[in-house]
Amino acid sequence: MKYIYYSLERVLYLSRLVINGLKRLKGEAAVQGSKNSALPILAATLLSGDESILHNCPNLSDVSGSVNILRYLGCEVEFCNGTLICSSRGLNRNHIPNSLMREMRSSIIFLGALLARTGSASMCFPGGCEIGPRPIDLHLKALSELGVEIHDDHGVFRCNVPNGLFGAKIALSFPSVGATENVMICASMAEGTTVITNAAREPEICDLADYLNSCGANISGAGEGTIVIEGVKTLRGVSHTIIPDRIVAATLLAGCASTGGRIRLNRLIPSHLGAVLSIFEESGCEVSVQGSSIVFDSPHRLSAPKIVRTMPYPGFPTDAQAPIMAMTAKSKGTTLFVENIFENRYLHVGGLLQMGANIKVEGKVAVSQGVDCLHGAEVEAMDLRGAAALIVAGLGAEGKTTLDGVKYLDRGYENIEAVLTSLGGDVKRI
Ligand code: UD1
Repeated sequence: MKYIYYSLERVLYLSRLVINGLKRLKGEAAVQGSKNSALPILAATLLSGDESILHNCPNLSDVSGSVNILRYLGCEVEFCNGTLICSSRGLNRNHIPNSLMREMRSSIIFLGALLARTGSASMCFPGGCEIGPRPIDLHLKALSELGVEIHDDHGVFRCNVPNGLFGAKIALSFPSVGATENVMICASMAEGTTVITNAAREPEICDLADYLNSCGANISGAGEGTIVIEGVKTLRGVSHTIIPDRIVAATLLAGCASTGGRIRLNRLIPSHLGAVLSIFEESGCEVSVQGSSIVFDSPHRLSAPKIVRTMPYPGFPTDAQAPIMAMTAKSKGTTLFVENIFENRYLHVGGLLQMGANIKVEGKVAVSQGVDCLHGAEVEAMDLRGAAALIVAGLGAEGKTTLDGVKYLDRGYENIEAVLTSLGGDVKRI
């Protein structure tokens, strides 16, 4: 079997982007598959002990991280041209080494999947972007309510299911995306009914439910605050298409708006972008939804949206905060940002200031006072969406921007320099 993986060289060596700004974006592009859908679904492929085929799977370093975990556990994985085939028949381990766990946050979703399939699992705390403390207490509490015993052995969680998994009423104190996914996966094969209240409602939750239901699970209410899971004994492998990435779409639109451009984005689900599109409209952009496409026209100078408050879906997504802030850096007026999801999610502000932005941060609040123009600079990304923000700013800045820390970008954006170049941007990886 031929294995094709994310090219390590892209991550380790070819890690600088050079952007020559002020090229008006135009033309059309298709939006890649969603990272945040692909990752939990990859973990969920463990459940069936069968072969699953995932279409529209993005080629990202985080996907590569999940593939590495699956292979370590004994699965066979083939990934070519956006189609990933995973057979979990040969699963022969239930421990994930620290090095694989620390590559990304969503490695924790393998906990629920391994417990459902094998009844035991051990792993350390997950890694991921340093955008706040990112505890996993909600995951662990919910799993213990399903009958999982968890022993914290100096930072390694040793978990088992002494009496089997049993459906339970799980009330999340916050609608955590990851905790909701972990419970959905684990409870799919528990005995009896699980009810999650205050569940996350993100589109990626619905995609996971769609995948699991086509495998034979019985999940209802995904996308609503209460999710009901009737446990089943077995699941089968299926073919599933990953939904488009709404955050990549938001980033491309912000990049376009930053250049006063006009583009058409294809292969997306516009309704997933509701809160983001209204910010673009408030900024003076014209947004026309045409089926699974958006035609987007931005004015020469944007008006500053008044306030951007990140909230759980269907509120404004925290993942789009950084690219939108970069867009407002050059708009007319002042925008107030309130980051309600993560504690340390203004890591892009330093780079934006280097480019001439006028942004002040105080705790969870940032005030962006639009300036007349940004100028290129040598900047460094500190996290995934921060990297996207610096690209958005670079596209709209005079002169050359050099971006370091591209390894963060590669976690979530597939070949973004090629996409932007196809839209008329001047973006090169050196
Ligand atoms: C997912 C997304 C991420 C997005 C985030 C919020 C993936 C792979 N990642 O991350 O891109 O930014 O949703 O939309 O899908 N929390 C706790 N205890 C827990 C779990 C979470 O306190 O056990 C807190 C977090 O620290 C954070 C908030 O809840 O402040 C939201 O986290 P959560 O929704 O779980 O985000 P992730 O699933 O990590």
